[in-house]
Amino acid sequence: MSLLVLGFESSCDETGVALVQADAGGAVPRLLGDALHSQVAMHADYGGVVPELASRDHIRRVLPLARQALAQAGKGLADVDLVAFTRGPGLAGALLVGAGVACALGAALGRPVLGVHHLEGHLLSPFLSADPPEFPFVALLVSGGHTQLMRVDGVGRYALLGETIDDAAGEAFDKSAKLLGLGYPGGPALARLADFGDATAYALPRPLLHSGDLNFSFAGLKTAVLTQARKIEGLPCEQPRADLAASTQAAIVEVLVKKSLKALDATGLARLVVAGGVGANQQLRADLGRACARRGARVHYPELHLCTDNGAMIALAAALRVQAGVSHPAHDYAFDVRPRWPLDQVA
Ligand code: KG4
Ligand code: ZN
Repeated sequence: MSLLVLGFESSCDETGVALVQADAGGAVPRLLGDALHSQVAMHADYGGVVPELASRDHIRRVLPLARQALAQAGKGLADVDLVAFTRGPGLAGALLVGAGVACALGAALGRPVLGVHHLEGHLLSPFLSADPPEFPFVALLVSGGHTQLMRVDGVGRYALLGETIDDAAGEAFDKSAKLLGLGYPGGPALARLADFGDATAYALPRPLLHSGDLNFSFAGLKTAVLTQARKIEGLPCEQPRADLAASTQAAIVEVLVKKSLKALDATGLARLVVAGGVGANQQLRADLGRACARRGARVHYPELHLCTDNGAMIALAAALRVQAGVSHPAHDYAFDVRPRWPLDQVA
């Protein structure tokens, strides 16, 4: 018996709807259809996500995207066995759009619904790649709102090893990019500018690098970038900006790489999964790849297009939870959302 899961993601500024099929026998689920709309252009004028605009746009996009995902898969609504949605964490109003639509669909179709943790979606997303990981592994979750190292022993078995005490890695990219006069979201823009710069030009701090634990801190880095950005403001030459971008990226990446290796040491594991938007960063991938190869550890990533928010990871997480027997979706359509929801509290 196979299970067809329709998943909705609407926690922030991407509306994603996808269809995943889980076959009997425990094989890794397959992605059949995947539709996405990014609101990046809409929020760019404001320099960040405007929650009210995000919610309104999710409402506009969500049903046409569902139709698109189903059409891509050659399936109809009647084929869907389970409807999944992002229950949290994220923007409350934005989450309510996906939750409301998913539960209404479930009720109309008489199918069960399941609310999924957004970070669990990110963390499990490499299972949709050509090179899926095996449990147990260490997960480095690096998104716009979170920076965490987790020990993952199976679906639903997550133990927090360390996390940021202030800004997330994605936030560090975004805020530094803003200081350099780059648009939103800053991560990809800063990475592009960094390609033309000298990463050793500015000695920026590597906060908590030698703290002895697995926590992160990026707020101090932002202050250092601000100080340097002021010095080069108005200079006629572009090179200092590129150098500062490269130095900033190097500082963030070095901390992420060293702490990930430390987490592998602490757990005795030799497998690392990197997920979340910052996982798309090519410098991070190159440096982690080299460092892990040196110690015989494997690194797994989601496919590049599944690094940032999407519906596929939500449908996948629901499918894996049901397959593993850790979730038993109900025909209970009295939904709620959890804007704040620590991943290690996922039951
Ligand atoms: O996981 P995600 O799509 O959304 C959240 O759940 O937060 O992550 C978005 C974050 C943003 O901060 C964005 O700047 C960053 O991921 N990001 C990158 C790159 N692509 C996205 N940061 C550095 N380099 C990239 N190539
Ligand atoms: Zn995300």
